[in-house]
Amino acid sequence: MENTRQPFFYDITLRDGNQSLKKPWQLSEKEIIFNKLLELKVQAVELGFPASSEMDFEACRYLASIATEKTVVSVLARCVKNDITSAVEAVKHAGTPRIHTFLTLSPFHMKYVLNKDPMEVRKTAIEAVKFAYEEISKANKNGQVEFSVEHFGDCGENLDFVIDTLKEIVKAGATTINLPNTVERKRPRVFLDMIERVYDALPKSVSLSLHNHNDLGMATATTVEGYFSGAVQLECCLNGLGERAGNTNFYEVAVALHNSGVDVPIDLSKIYETALIVSQMSKVEIYEKAPLIGPDALAHRSGIHQDGALKTKDMEFGAYRPIHPSLIGRKDDEKIGFTSQSGKTAIFEIISKAGYPITIQEAIRLTPVIKEAAEKIGELPTRNIIDIYFREICNVQGPFKLTNFDHVEDNKFVVEFKYNDKPFKVTGEGNGPIDACMDALKQAGFERKLLFYKQIAMDEELLGSGAIAMSVIHIEGNNKESIIGRAIHKNTAVANVRAIFNAYNLIYKV
Ligand code: KIV
Ligand code: ZN
Repeated sequence: MENTRQPFFYDITLRDGNQSLKKPWQLSEKEIIFNKLLELKVQAVELGFPASSEMDFEACRYLASIATEKTVVSVLARCVKNDITSAVEAVKHAGTPRIHTFLTLSPFHMKYVLNKDPMEVRKTAIEAVKFAYEEISKANKNGQVEFSVEHFGDCGENLDFVIDTLKEIVKAGATTINLPNTVERKRPRVFLDMIERVYDALPKSVSLSLHNHNDLGMATATTVEGYFSGAVQLECCLNGLGERAGNTNFYEVAVALHNSGVDVPIDLSKIYETALIVSQMSKVEIYEKAPLIGPDALAHRSGIHQDGALKTKDMEFGAYRPIHPSLIGRKDDEKIGFTSQSGKTAIFEIISKAGYPITIQEAIRLTPVIKEAAEKIGELPTRNIIDIYFREICNVQGPFKLTNFDHVEDNKFVVEFKYNDKPFKVTGEGNGPIDACMDALKQAGFERKLLFYKQIAMDEELLGSGAIAMSVIHIEGNNKESIIGRAIHKNTAVANVRAIFNAYNLIYKV
């Protein structure tokens, strides 16, 4: 079914999320989250449960007083007069206050938890909604009432009774009917069929709402599909907080609807920073594999995925990610982690990103060595990869062996080396050690053309080796190609000369 209405995001972090925390939030903490919700541009916020404690009453009253005119601020109340009175007291000064009252209509719960006859429960619910509607309307002309069928997911066998009750509840003044999957027990389709039955039966002026708990890990799917089954209000929780396995994750629903072409009235770019704050304040860590916001949500470890991810990394649509990270305000790049499952592309990327020059041929050459290390210890820290790179690329074995290099006077340097074990000692002249070394090699009969030279500052944190620079020397090879020699040393002159010898070894190696 197509839903032409814009989804209405009703956040329940400060109520369902808060009630499940090991240390529920104080007013000042609730205020921080509340302001984040306003930045996200949610349309409605459930502030708390005023009858639960004096502290929560005060928090609800204060937050209702600072809410923007158009934001619906809602508070929870059981179908009990005292709860409703204190709920009305807490929000009556807000621009758009709402009383959210609830009662179970599930056969199991009416019988074993409430221990009441269904007709008695129906009566209680209708009377409570009527009372809430009268009280909030008296106190505020914009007052609204929402009614929740707690455990709606367990109402499959008495759905006709539920629908008849809801028709009465709507007549009593409720404009939003919330259908919670208070405990997620079955597959989404079964639940969605029930939602569709209610949608078809109630007047279209009623705003149908979903509130799914995530006991089987399908709350996001049910909520997203529930929107396409006629629900317009989506009750979600930041970071998927909430009782037990949590409530529907706000970010996943918002992004999934966005990706489905729905006009989502949320500032998605605020998601990531909000998630970090909520995690810190709730002391509930964002788990490694958490969709969208988890550390691993942008990590690629297999060679095939790394290749696709890197080829599309600057594109809005990525080969191996659902969104561009910037959509949710995530600034970190896709992470390339090198394991035994990774390949040359990862090596090339990791070393280049660390600021060191590498060609794809060199990455191919390094692959078996780095893979072998990864097989032993698992994902390799960049530091280990760079160490192998230095060992293999900055120390090329071949016919040349530099044995000594000395600055004798002005522009003269003595270069001592062996070529296939034959010793040479030559004084070279030039404008600095590179020129002088090239001159010495020329005099010894090994003339080559210097194509390019540069020094790269070392990332000391990464290296911790005391080295200060890497020399990169390009020398013309036998087919006029550029052969790159590199070396690191704390003495830049030594680094330069070693880089030249490394390039020579590549050229003269048989
Ligand atoms: O899960 C639930 O049924 C609830 C209701 C109070 C809406 O949280
Ligand atoms: Zn709930």
